[in-house]
Amino acid sequence: AVIGGGTMGSGIAAASAAAGFPVLLVERGEQAAAKALERTLAAAHDEAERQSIAAKLTTATNLDGIGDYDWICEAIIEDLEAKRDLLARIESLRKDGSVISTNTSGIPLSTITAGLPARLRQDIAVTHFFNPVRVMRLLEIVPDADTSPDTVVALADFGRLTLGKGVVHAKDTVNFIANRIGCFWMLAGLHKAIPHLEQGLGIEDIDAILSAPVGLPNTGLFGLIDLIGLDVMHYVGANLARNLPSGDAGLAFTSFPAEVQALLERRQLGRKTGGGFYRVLKNEDGSKLKEAFDLLGGQWRPARNVAVDRVDLLADDANGRLGWELLGETLLYAADLVPQIADDIVNVDRALRWGFAWQRGPFQFLDHLGPQRVIAKLRKSGRPLPNLLAVLEKAGVETFYRGDTYLGVDGRYHPIPAE
Ligand code: NAI
Repeated sequence: AVIGGGTMGSGIAAASAAAGFPVLLVERGEQAAAKALERTLAAAHDEAERQSIAAKLTTATNLDGIGDYDWICEAIIEDLEAKRDLLARIESLRKDGSVISTNTSGIPLSTITAGLPARLRQDIAVTHFFNPVRVMRLLEIVPDADTSPDTVVALADFGRLTLGKGVVHAKDTVNFIANRIGCFWMLAGLHKAIPHLEQGLGIEDIDAILSAPVGLPNTGLFGLIDLIGLDVMHYVGANLARNLPSGDAGLAFTSFPAEVQALLERRQLGRKTGGGFYRVLKNEDGSKLKEAFDLLGGQWRPARNVAVDRVDLLADDANGRLGWELLGETLLYAADLVPQIADDIVNVDRALRWGFAWQRGPFQFLDHLGPQRVIAKLRKSGRPLPNLLAVLEKAGVETFYRGDTYLGVDGRYHPIPAE
């Protein structure tokens, strides 16, 4: 049973029904239910699947039917009181042995369930799907101290075996794994890009480096933020400002630089408003013109086509230095977050590969660069080593991965769990 059939709920309902399971989709009223049904059917991959989803799907405007369902997935708006109120009602109607999940993107689970009945607290975990649900492979599963191991196993097995997701186990910390690191990359990147723009680079030069040449997707930095929307990024930054632990390096980058804030204020938000950092204009003859926004001059201009070869983040040349500032620092940030946000490096690497389509996760990236070279670079500038680089150095080993094993926080190699 999926409660809330918006962007996420419709995708989760469609994926579950497409896998052959009866799904109850609950919305707030007849009109909302009809829209949710339409959205869910639109998430079908083809006409045949659309029909099989329709055959498995029932919509409802109240919770009365949820007692028949084994997994109850809350996917309503990101509002603490609304979620708590809904969960209390779900708890009084669901059967013993059923499992609940909340699709929150940033509220700690322990805050959502504080003071609710013990049966609920042991049977609930966060299922953090990525948008669009049918396309993105990542599913982060987040228990808190009260969640039973059976609950985690049930949700992880269903996600992996039935929905075909790449399951990552995260801890109950702000924004979990992929968004904690991915949003640091984006928000810090906006700040660190400004001096490079002042020296004459355009946003397309920066995106040309922060894509295939370093093993990141073609959207680059500015292109990805256009896709997500500046309003969403702004909201994420505010959530980080509230919930990051003191001393976290991300606290320096929770708001936008002035040049980007100006875009937000005039609702130049990204693709959904017809342009953010880039826009595509259609000429009368049907051809397209891509434009880039000059953040310093405050105006649109034709985007240039920029080609960049492979970039070595440790090379002492212009592209290497930019790559280090705008990506290398994120690798160091990630290396300091284990075991805070995940038990091991494997979950971190999978989260970035499956949630942000990085070719390599942060630790695979560090292996690619050579951890000893990175350590030497940090030593030279007198910087302390992030936690996992210190573990590696103390263990006297060369890489985070060795064959089928990974380096644990205990300094020993352990077998990599199956995907
Ligand atoms: P949305 O606004 O698209 O959908 C929410 C839906 O819930 C609406 O259709 C609304 O009518 C319905 N709803 C609200 N209160 C309800 C209630 N009491 N009973 C039944 N239905 C109710 O929101 P979206 O984007 O789907 O987000 C849902 C959750 O997923 C939020 O917690 C969000 O933070 C999280 N999330 C969103 C992602 C995204 O990219 N949109 C990614 C990952 C998580």
